[in-house]
Amino acid sequence: MSEIAEFQQLNRQTVPNHVAIIMDGNGRWANLRGKPRIFGHRAGVESVRRAVSFACEKGIRVLTLFAFSSENWRRPKDEVSGLMDLFSWALTSEVKKLHRNQVKLKVIGDRSVFSESFVKRISDAEKLTENNDGLLLNVAVNYGGRWDIINAVKRICAEMSDKGESFDADVLNEQLVSEHLEAPQDVDLLIRTGGEKRISNFLLWQLAYSEMYVSDVLWPDFNEEVFQRAVEYFASRERRFGCTGEQIRGGKR
Ligand code: IPE
Ligand code: IPE
Ligand code: MG
Repeated sequence: MSEIAEFQQLNRQTVPNHVAIIMDGNGRWANLRGKPRIFGHRAGVESVRRAVSFACEKGIRVLTLFAFSSENWRRPKDEVSGLMDLFSWALTSEVKKLHRNQVKLKVIGDRSVFSESFVKRISDAEKLTENNDGLLLNVAVNYGGRWDIINAVKRICAEMSDKGESFDADVLNEQLVSEHLEAPQDVDLLIRTGGEKRISNFLLWQLAYSEMYVSDVLWPDFNEEVFQRAVEYFASRERRFGCTGEQIRGGKR
């Protein structure tokens, strides 16, 4: 297939293959109710369940959720430890249901700073679901887009040195870097709740040509209706990938 034909096909997709979500607004949701911020994070777990089942029903192939950024360590200690406890709890409590629904779970991000027991919980959950062929669910914890790119290059270097080769910069190309990222698939649709129009160091590389849908809805209020609106927005966009609209619509070149 020619490059333009590939872009035309991508433009015709009505259901995005890879959806990434910046799940923002938990703290404000809690504040509005006069509660501590962790209350909002806990309420957000239900929105995660809604998002995952909607993605399964719609036939979305990959869903990547931003749960904790590499910069979120800057938050107050009690919020950070509350969040870590919540991830650890949710991982164990949700994994069986995910497995029953053929979801393959992957935690992306730098896990080198996590406790041994947390790392074990993560790898047990990943192992249990690794052969599932339904939705691929990536949960980003201690994830940063810049870290992901640097880490990919480090992996490439390590593989070369394992093979006894010295580093050759000419081997670097987009495909090789993509393949070594935590989540190699390009994002088709990025959703951000909570109204902020920024990327906050999420999947920098993979977002190169994704459509962006920002909703003012706070994450604990996110539901199937908001997700559906985002998917409809995606379907209505003309994706051009640097080409002209005429090329994408199959008109004059
Ligand atoms: C997103 O909600 C969750 C995390 C970053 C862990 P926030 O906690 O950022 O909520 P707001 O933006 O303060 O409302
Ligand atoms: C982005 O939200 C990270 C997650 C949703 C996990 P933040 O609330 O941390 O983003 P900023 O700080 O407002 O950019
Ligand atoms: Mg926020």
